[in-house]
Amino acid sequence: MEVELALEFARVVEEAAIEAARTMGRGDRELSDRAAVEAMRRVLDTVPVAGTVVIGEGERDQAPMLYIGERVGLKKEYCETVPEVDIAVDPLEGTNLCAMGVQGAITVLAASEQGGLLHAPDCYMEKIVVEPGARGAVDLDAPVKDNLRAIARRLDRRVEDLVVVVLDRPRHEKLIAEIRETGARIRLISDGDLSAGIAAAVVGTGVHAVMGIGGAPEGVLTAAALRCLNGEILARLVVKDEKQAERIKGMGIHDLKRIYNTHDLAPGKEIIFAACGVTDGSLLKGVRFFGDGVRTQSMVMTLSTRSVRFIDSIRVSKRPDAKVRLF
Ligand code: FBP
Repeated sequence: MEVELALEFARVVEEAAIEAARTMGRGDRELSDRAAVEAMRRVLDTVPVAGTVVIGEGERDQAPMLYIGERVGLKKEYCETVPEVDIAVDPLEGTNLCAMGVQGAITVLAASEQGGLLHAPDCYMEKIVVEPGARGAVDLDAPVKDNLRAIARRLDRRVEDLVVVVLDRPRHEKLIAEIRETGARIRLISDGDLSAGIAAAVVGTGVHAVMGIGGAPEGVLTAAALRCLNGEILARLVVKDEKQAERIKGMGIHDLKRIYNTHDLAPGKEIIFAACGVTDGSLLKGVRFFGDGVRTQSMVMTLSTRSVRFIDSIRVSKRPDAKVRLF
């Protein structure tokens, strides 16, 4: 399924990115999100799959589209043999970034065979993400300084030469102080720990680790990307109160303190991960509109066939004199 569907899913994230990018800088996060969601939903229905959304915009009563449990994909009457797949989406990761025209917004989709992606509750998750070279070196319960020393040792550099990405939130005050104490450098981000997590697993992005608490759905999507990139995420749900705990147990997760690794979060044998830049970021360029068309940059990865594609696409305008440029 990976080979046939990879480019189909590239189309889905591209279209969502283009529509979201049209709203860039408008200062209206709902408008940006809606643009991405509607485009993603529309294009998904042209893809030959029998898909079930397992991570999406929320429960059926909270979201009109891409709600958890929603069936997506080309209807069976148009295409007889379509694979059953689970689909996890973050139609616009970094909604604020897009609304404010700031770097790092992306559109994201991951797909796997049924059961291949953890049905994560919509709560927070404590995470540590490292690149392939540091896999197995970190422990979610170890002191920050021990983890950073272990990463530095594996990457053959000084702790002072590491860059750790952390979401700029009051809840991370202690974590930030502890990282600073080690001498490691920090990149504070206002949003987008999913794209930071992908960047951490790609050598040359200048990101060596991501630490802190972010969304659990983003954690599963990060894991799907990291399975394809050989990176590692360790994670644990952060449960706010008893009510949330009951809800999570109702979803079948009973050990609320469990530490998940990359494979636990995204156990699929076949995984497709697709992301497209909306605004420029450390991994992907944002959407560029020009008179003769629109250009996007996407990353599409498949696990069993071990492929990582960076796709530079141009939608050429229908004008008869439209030109395509090399760069
Ligand atoms: P969305 O733009 O998809 O809502 O998420 C942005 C994000 O920054 C994620 O990258 C991160 O995991 C989460 O929000 C953090 O949540 P919060 O803003 O509540 O700290």
